[in-house]
Amino acid sequence: MSSSGESLKTQLINDACTKDGQDEAKKAMKKFLALAKAKNPSVTDCKSCHSVLSPNYPLTPDALEKFVKSGGK
Ligand code: HEC
Repeated sequence: MSSSGESLKTQLINDACTKDGQDEAKKAMKKFLALAKAKNPSVTDCKSCHSVLSPNYPLTPDALEKFVKSGGK
């Protein structure tokens, strides 16, 4: 975990950002979305968890909870 600025909360995005920044994060999220939809009916698209889709994808208040409930790490 970094001590400055926003820190990353999930293993998925932490790994992706270490590899290739936001591009890789988007790819990982798209894969994850397919799984999440199957597991958790309250997840329908990116906007189930992100209030805006750029430039830094702010999370909805329950995004992390949904993420974990949908099998995310
Ligand atoms: C079930 C909830 C959920 C869904 C659906 C979801 N995301 Fe995310 N997303 C998250 C969470 C939680 C994080 C924060 C990860 C972290 O901080 O470690 C995140 C982080 C990201 C990031 C990294 C943001 C940054 O800090 O640079 C991007 C990019 C992103 N998501 C894109 C998408 C896209 C594109 C979609 C649709 C294909 C999507 N997400 C769908 C929960 C979700």
